[in-house]
Amino acid sequence: MGDDVFRDDPTVRLLEERTAELLAKPAGLFVPSGTMANVAAIRAHTHHGDEVICDESSHIVQYEVGAHAALSGVQLRQLSGEFGLLTADQVREAIRPENIHVPVSRVVALENTHNRGGGSVYPVEQAREIAEIGHAGGAKVHIDGARLMNACVALGVEPEAYTRHVDSCTLCFSKALGAPVGSAIVGDVEFIERVRRIRKMLGGGMRQVGIIAAGALYAIEHNIDWLAEDHANARRLATGLADLPGIEIDPDTVQTNIVIFRVNRPDLSAAELVERMSERGIAFITFGSDSCRMVTHLDVSRDEIDQALDCLHRLLD
Ligand SMILES: Cc1ncc(COP(=O)(O)O)c(C=O)c1O
Repeated sequence: MGDDVFRDDPTVRLLEERTAELLAKPAGLFVPSGTMANVAAIRAHTHHGDEVICDESSHIVQYEVGAHAALSGVQLRQLSGEFGLLTADQVREAIRPENIHVPVSRVVALENTHNRGGGSVYPVEQAREIAEIGHAGGAKVHIDGARLMNACVALGVEPEAYTRHVDSCTLCFSKALGAPVGSAIVGDVEFIERVRRIRKMLGGGMRQVGIIAAGALYAIEHNIDWLAEDHANARRLATGLADLPGIEIDPDTVQTNIVIFRVNRPDLSAAELVERMSERGIAFITFGSDSCRMVTHLDVSRDEIDQALDCLHRLLD
């Protein structure tokens, strides 16, 4: 192993090259987490006082501890997307014209797939049109692609279908792709050099990190095609959940590996359901006061989906 801050860890270099290739961009950078990937990318695109146009339920709004305000001094302009997905018209309306009173619309940020949207996938055309509108309005376009490969597998498209229209994109190795740690940011060479300095500023310069990068490299080499099976498992789970008394879900909305359902029972809250199932070895989380989120992944087989459904059936029926 080498020291990645000095750029001489061979595994990190290979991972960055392969990730850039996979996402069809000139350069890539390995970072510890998806949150740091978004924070560093948005910081590199913006100046204090700028505005970032995004969906109100996106990860950058909900789960990044206010980082974009605290660390980049930007305002998040929150639009209300359907299943977290913005429309071209919404973005067109939101981009601000040049005027001394208003902040500069510097970035349009899309999340694909969308976590709180239940793993929803941007139709390629919709993302392309939004990117064009963003660029025409002088903004950079960023994709929080923590689960971009899920979107690509779901639609049967190459990542380039999305990335060729945008300035930066992230990817998490540690989610559906199954690596223990790490994410990446891709973009052009000059942008990635700026992001590299910001990563160091945030404390994300890692030293003998090849051992972690190796897991991420394995993930992109071996675990992408398998996502189709993961999605089929999620759909099976959603279909089974829809048959349970007091569980509300439309299985047709499940496009990838995230399953969000409502618990509508007088005798059991969403939090209680999570607790009871946890006692039975099945782990998931509440999503708001009356809903739960389950995620299928590399370590869950089709048989285990059926076991989970059996267990839920016994508890709820
Ligand atoms: C869409 C999205 N972006 C970014 C992240 C952040 O990733 P991390 O947990 O590695 O910081 C997550 C985490 O769940 C996510 O769902």
